[in-house]
Amino acid sequence: MNVQQSVVLVKPDGIQRGLVGEIINRFERKGLKLVGLKLTQLTDEQLEDWYVHHKDKPFFPKLRNYMQMTPVVAMLWEGVECIDAVRKLVGITKAREAEAGSIRGDLGMSQQMNLIHASDGVESAKKERDIVFTKDEVFNYQKDIEIFVYSEEERA
Ligand code: CMP
Repeated sequence: MNVQQSVVLVKPDGIQRGLVGEIINRFERKGLKLVGLKLTQLTDEQLEDWYVHHKDKPFFPKLRNYMQMTPVVAMLWEGVECIDAVRKLVGITKAREAEAGSIRGDLGMSQQMNLIHASDGVESAKKERDIVFTKDEVFNYQKDIEIFVYSEEERA
């Protein structure tokens, strides 16, 4: 099936507010597989590459400062068609308007301080994975519970 990976960051406001465990828990309960996890301080170069489509926007300097206020928690989650599933769990950018039940909808109020990042497509997920993880930080292992997370057809 169409197994995808999605990069999730818990941003500095999520770290300060003590929401790392809560956020990881939501992805674990969903049935996704954690294949990468680290605490990392993002550099100017990494952020300019990461947010290349926002680089010329007026809010970019503030976005960069915000993303460097503390280290971030970077995670790589894997699952069948998981990019859209992760985005639904995260909710829309402006947290105060995000759907109740989503991470931003339940836990945030801000458009900038929106707690979390998630990849928006297959190509951006690969790019973001390569920005934050080295090859030996990405793991390939069997998760036995998957026989109860997906049907046989979905796993084939
Ligand atoms: P995200 O959608 O994950 O990626 C781009 C980030 O830029 C976004 O989360 C917010 O953290 C931030 N952002 C988006 N729009 C604005 C804005 N108008 N002002 C400040 N920050 C913003």
